[in-house]
Amino acid sequence: MNFKEELAKRTEEAERIIVEYLPLAGDYDKEIIEAMNYSVSAGGKRLRPVLMMSAYRLFGGDGVSVKPFMAAMEMLHTYSLVHDDLPALDNDDYRRGMLTTHKKFGEAAAVLCGDALLHQSYETAMKAFDAEQSERVIRAFRIFGNKSGIYGMIGGQSADVIHTGEMISDGLLYYIYEKKTGALIEGSLMIGAALAGASQADIDKMQKAGAAIGMAFQIQDDVLDLEGNEALLGKPVNSDERNGKKTYITIHGMDKAKSDIRYFSEEAVKIISETGNNTCEREFLNNLIRHLAERVK
Ligand code: IPE
Ligand code: IPE
Ligand code: MG
Ligand code: MG
Ligand code: MG
Repeated sequence: MNFKEELAKRTEEAERIIVEYLPLAGDYDKEIIEAMNYSVSAGGKRLRPVLMMSAYRLFGGDGVSVKPFMAAMEMLHTYSLVHDDLPALDNDDYRRGMLTTHKKFGEAAAVLCGDALLHQSYETAMKAFDAEQSERVIRAFRIFGNKSGIYGMIGGQSADVIHTGEMISDGLLYYIYEKKTGALIEGSLMIGAALAGASQADIDKMQKAGAAIGMAFQIQDDVLDLEGNEALLGKPVNSDERNGKKTYITIHGMDKAKSDIRYFSEEAVKIISETGNNTCEREFLNNLIRHLAERVK
């Protein structure tokens, strides 16, 4: 099977797992559950669950405790997108090729939908304990909290929003990218490794690889905001300029941005090449990293 087919197969696998954990609507909660399921089911690359499963296999994992964590990570990521698109933040009307949650259900419902997905993500991750009550699951849980919280995604997202329109230092730019985007990618790789029983040294390597992938991924996101195709992206272009965001490109220029995407991607490939015990999986992961550097959506 070639890489593109393998990626499509794994994306479908992630999709099936995510759907399994979506909440079921009752009589009085159906409006908000409809909004939750709308935003999660809208599609998306499912990159974080795919990375998590790959890291799990890279370290020999073959159980089921990874499944709830895959779904939980995608719920948490989706909550970050629902809130990111709100009028008070990036004010965008389309996401994953569909109306954003606030455009479809109203602003109050979108705020609550994001809150609900955040909580649902923890309830979902907790289900890993049904499969296995182990030190591995506890470790994975710690990583999940740390990478999503103030020392992770929401720390970076907050700094991004609070400093919008300002000139920012290199240090702050790196902090924002490594946290708002890198943290969930790091977390996905680290959780996969932790659940498979990897050593702390290997989990640390996954963190470093994830940080490099995250930098490349966010810089490419900025490039696509300027040069991408709206229909392919499923979200508006020129959102950063409209919001007066200082991005990697406004600070370093397009040429350096593009060469740094390659630099960070190769850094991640180098780390992965020295990690894990499954050669096929290592190859898949490295192909995925290089594919992301060239992505158009
Ligand atoms: C978008 O993430 C937000 C960023 C961190 C750049 P993705 O590009 O992974 O979005 P989906 O999940 O495919 O919609
Ligand atoms: C968002 O970064 C990162 C999040 C934590 C949601 P962006 O604002 O650049 O993401 P897009 O371009 O809207 O997907
Ligand atoms: Mg944003
Ligand atoms: Mg945005
Ligand atoms: Mg963007």
